[in-house]
Amino acid sequence: MKVALITAVLLSSIGLANAASVDKGQALVEKGNCASCHGAGLNAPILPAYPKLAGQHADYIYYALHAYQVGNSNAQYGRNNAVMSSQVQVFTEADLHDIAAYVSSLPGSLVVKK
Ligand code: HEC
Repeated sequence: MKVALITAVLLSSIGLANAASVDKGQALVEKGNCASCHGAGLNAPILPAYPKLAGQHADYIYYALHAYQVGNSNAQYGRNNAVMSSQVQVFTEADLHDIAAYVSSLPGSLVVKK
């Protein structure tokens, strides 16, 4: 009985409560104007050196965005890129998960098979 209750509480706190929202992610990506560099549908970068994002795995997108936020403060983990670092500072942890969920939901030529 106790175990079932604890399990239910744990599941609701780690699972449902933190479920990422594709809709919120879309709003954040539009507000952040990410397509101005990553292109239409985040699948047509304006320069060859800019990465395609559409369809990328959500956990990787989250990892990348978080690494830009961390930057030089953790040389083992952070990504040091002036352009992207300035893009991500405004976002909360939950925002990054929402953005990642949205980006991975987009049809793209980057990921052929999941
Ligand atoms: C001014 C141009 C510009 C804008 C605007 C921009 N990006 Fe980027 N983005 C880049 C560049 C350049 C890179 C590659 C940086 C590097 O080499 O680490 C990049 C890399 C990334 C990566 C890492 C991709 C990978 O495969 O590792 C993600 C994720 C990303 N951007 C998401 C976003 C999101 C989300 C937004 C909007 C909030 C955004 N970007 C806005 C230029 C931009």
